Amino acid sequence: MYQTLLTSLEDNILTITINRADKLNALNKTVMSELEEAIIKLEKDESVKAVIITGSGQKAFVAGADISEFSGLTREEGMDLARRGQEIFFKIESAAKPIVAAVNGFALGGGCELAMACHFRTASENAQFGQPEVNLGLIPGYGGTQRMVQLVGKGRALELLMTGNLINAETALRYGLVNHVVKQEELLDKTKAILQTIINKAPLAISHCIKAVNAGINKNNGYEAEMEGFGECFATEDMKEGAIAFLERRKPVFKGQ
Ligand code: COA
Repeated sequence: MYQTLLTSLEDNILTITINRADKLNALNKTVMSELEEAIIKLEKDESVKAVIITGSGQKAFVAGADISEFSGLTREEGMDLARRGQEIFFKIESAAKPIVAAVNGFALGGGCELAMACHFRTASENAQFGQPEVNLGLIPGYGGTQRMVQLVGKGRALELLMTGNLINAETALRYGLVNHVVKQEELLDKTKAILQTIINKAPLAISHCIKAVNAGINKNNGYEAEMEGFGECFATEDMKEGAIAFLERRKPVFKGQ
């Protein structure tokens, strides 16, 4: 049905698995469109009462937006990319049914942003989180500058955003970025057990919890600033160098231009 997603429905819980393990489940255009399609469909599907998003393989949830699609983008195309990413992740955040990220490995860049757009997160012991965009001369563009602050606070968020450092599952738990850390083989069962409790409650009450929490958190102009900043980065030499250096497997040489 999908090229890049696997879906399975069990006990009214839909599991969506991003299935590009050879590229550590990086979010290319197809994954993003298919994720959007899946979210729209599940909202209408009465047999789906809750959702898990996870990654295929044992190494990565999602290692970021697909860097190979970055080369040659202009400032405007960069902004469009961020706008589209933000739009799709808003659909996840504002879904009327609970959507949980089961983070089974690297959740970097767009992968960390996808996990943060979900209503909450569970993680396996090997999970690692980070926003390493600065290594590419870039900033997060799919809501990361906003949701990281909401989840871990301004100081921790800015340190993660500016260093590009990764944190392990234990630190993510301490920061409040994830709710539970379990062995990898227990991750889906643990997540399903939590969702089972939720779907036994009144569905409309659950939807209103999500709606009310989101209404309090989102003031929105931060997302606009992120979109503009993300686009501006594409007009820099450093960003071109950062993306090429990653694909050529060498250290970037940044010049501040
Ligand atoms: N976009 C595109 N391709 C990606 C990717 C991304 N974000 N992350 C990983 N890949 C690809 C690699 O290019 C490689 O492809 P290849 O085998 O065809 O060369 C494959 O996935 C495996 O990744 P590799 O780097 O060989 O694995 P590793 O174990 O050595 O390193 C990471 C794992 C996660 C540390 C490393 O892949 C990485 O730094 N990824 C980019 C993270 C990032 O900057 N994300 C933010 C993007 S905005």
